[in-house]
Amino acid sequence: MSKPRVVLGVGGGIAAYKACEVLRGLTESGHDVRVVPTEAALNFVGAATFEALSGHPVHTGVFTEVPEVQHVRVGKEADLVLVVPATANLLAKAAHGLADDLLTNTLLTARCPVAFFPAMHTEMWEHPATRDNVALLRSRGMVVTEPDSGRLTGADTGKGRLANPAEIVDLARLLLARPDALPRDLEGVRVVVSAGGTREPLDPVRYLGNRSSGKQGYALARVAAQRGAEVTLVAAHTVALPDPAGATVQRVSTAEELRQAVHAAARSADVVVMAAAVADFRPANRAEHKIKKSDGRPDPVITLDRNADILAELVQNRRPGQVVVGFAAETGDEHGSVLDHARAKLKRKGADLLVVNAVGDGKAFGTEDNSGWLLGADATEQPLPLAQKAALASTVWDAVVSFMKR
Ligand code: CTP
Repeated sequence: MSKPRVVLGVGGGIAAYKACEVLRGLTESGHDVRVVPTEAALNFVGAATFEALSGHPVHTGVFTEVPEVQHVRVGKEADLVLVVPATANLLAKAAHGLADDLLTNTLLTARCPVAFFPAMHTEMWEHPATRDNVALLRSRGMVVTEPDSGRLTGADTGKGRLANPAEIVDLARLLLARPDALPRDLEGVRVVVSAGGTREPLDPVRYLGNRSSGKQGYALARVAAQRGAEVTLVAAHTVALPDPAGATVQRVSTAEELRQAVHAAARSADVVVMAAAVADFRPANRAEHKIKKSDGRPDPVITLDRNADILAELVQNRRPGQVVVGFAAETGDEHGSVLDHARAKLKRKGADLLVVNAVGDGKAFGTEDNSGWLLGADATEQPLPLAQKAALASTVWDAVVSFMKR
């Protein structure tokens, strides 16, 4: 199979240097990337860098390789066009159909998904001209992602930071697999997602934990934010993951901390997704000092207390119309298959939707892909074929959206 062809448009903003990391991430994950910078972008990164990293020549104008009709061909041949960073100027040109260089010509000739990753100062992002241009591009089915909040070019902070390059690569792969994965159908919807694994301390050094990487929960938060939701991500322990652009992240450690944070956020939420791996038990006593090998004395015995079932509490206290989504990591056993256990869990917990993953044998935990079933309280059962975690996340949001419409 030939490699998916991605055009990486680069706008003239300081975040252009991060486009190199996006380029690297895309080529390393098997994409054929053609970089089309604007003239201004080359003030920040030289053409040689893009040529070396992509393995293709780099041009900015329409008057090179004229017999090849590049200004039409580049866009027509692409499977995906990304613009990283999308400056206010580029968004304006794209919205109004201006075509005065190779990138803007490419944007007009592309018939594949087009995604803009904005980066600019907060004032420019919030300006009515930019808001209108973004709305216009989105109304035409183009993806304009939410920028991140944080440190901007100077000492200032605010909304307008480019999304993390790893996140951009993840969303690019999602759009290649499912061009319709990021509709703006969660605008105005308040969402809480819990992710990662809790840790229950035994002493100042040790804890009881689990293997959750947090990747699936982060993918759910990321996709929801890019579908327009107002997202609070309650993150327990995870592998190193970039904060999803546009989401508010609250960090917690123990099951009790996660419980407090999720309940507080759920009070004003329309949807709560419990993707976190919450410890069912905690050590009954937390030793003040490190537990030592006790020569001559018997080895310590750890007594466990039961933690609250947060998902069950959420279901009990849910606001009218609130959708509650649970997760179940199951292995089959002598009492039943993965699906038997999951069906029973959905009934027991009373959630509206349950995402079921088969675990064990290296499946689900820490991997980039995930599979399983999506069970509905209305007895619907949808298989979730093996796919990137972001793709599974967008299927879950599709189901949540149809649930909210009922
Ligand atoms: N969960 C929770 N609070 C807990 C344990 C789990 O809210 N104390 C949530 C998880 O976030 C997940 C769902 O419950 O959405 C199912 O988690 P799982 O560990 O599979 O279920 P348990 O209820 O712990 O059932 P069991 O371990 O007996 O299979």
